[in-house]
Amino acid sequence: MYLQRRNRTLRRNESIRSLVRETILTPNDFMAPVFIGEGKGEKHEIPSMPGYYRYSLDLMIKEVKELYSVGVKAINPYVKASDNLKDNTGKESWNPNGLMQTSIRAIKDAVPEMIIMSDVALDPYSIYGHDGIIENGDIVNDATIEALTKMSLSHAEAGVDFVAPSDMMDGRVAAFRKAFEENGYSHVGIMTYAAKYASCFYGPFRDALDSAPVDSQNIPKNKKTYQMDPANRTEAIKETLDDIAEGADIVMVKPAMAYLDILREVRNAVNVPVSAYQVSGEYAMIKAAAQNGWLDEKVTMMESLTCIKRAGADIISTYFAKEAAMLLNG
Ligand code: PBG
Repeated sequence: MYLQRRNRTLRRNESIRSLVRETILTPNDFMAPVFIGEGKGEKHEIPSMPGYYRYSLDLMIKEVKELYSVGVKAINPYVKASDNLKDNTGKESWNPNGLMQTSIRAIKDAVPEMIIMSDVALDPYSIYGHDGIIENGDIVNDATIEALTKMSLSHAEAGVDFVAPSDMMDGRVAAFRKAFEENGYSHVGIMTYAAKYASCFYGPFRDALDSAPVDSQNIPKNKKTYQMDPANRTEAIKETLDDIAEGADIVMVKPAMAYLDILREVRNAVNVPVSAYQVSGEYAMIKAAAQNGWLDEKVTMMESLTCIKRAGADIISTYFAKEAAMLLNG
């Protein structure tokens, strides 16, 4: 055959492929979600997330040091609040001596260079497992914003670099920005879960924190009145632009793998850094298939992360952060 163009020329061997590769992962791309529980010397594997653990603070500090030493520069901490601290106001969420606030201080003290982006939402503290306050079976927006603003200020006071509101209430970014400016925390940034979908892929995470919506009369069993409909695309752009207009520094798309089209559209529509969250269910699927010998874990992990970056993520929050960073470091 005479072919004017032979596309396979650029794929002939690994040296050529590496010369023309468009997307290169580095440990600097990753953020690690971390789960913190009460106690001392405690390490619990999350049943639906094989190889992933909830640590008490003393062990978490070791884990954070390890993450930093392999090149991971940011964490997203989540805490598991005990049942007796849960109510419908979420008031434990702004307790200056709560587990989150204590953890932020201790981690910043031990590894000051590690960037902390703390989750802001009421679900770990809600007896109903919802991200906001419930009145007459509805998750009420404005009262929730008041609670979340107190929560954000308490995280700022404890020393976070960014707060990461994952609640999807309206107007929270503007409220936090104003509160930070007025209270001496102008240096604290906001990474919003801007396009966060009502996704079944969060199941394992809710196991980790015991934070699933409760099954009770008059309480919605899902988060569809605040998280987005997976069927929608233009709404993701609107949500994201609104958050930026309110003062968000970084915007997130969540989940990642089933939402790469959204990620690309958001990346094209905005001029701030974009992050993507490879969520618990995505991790669980890869782990489960690998445990069955159906997929090669390392190859699948790296392919999924590369594709998330290719789709437009500047930062990837992933439960594979440590494993992937170690693999990249060789
Ligand atoms: C809390 C929150 C959730 C996740 C991050 N922050 C759960 C939810 O919204 O129900 C999910 C993360 C994951 O599944 O890995 N609002």
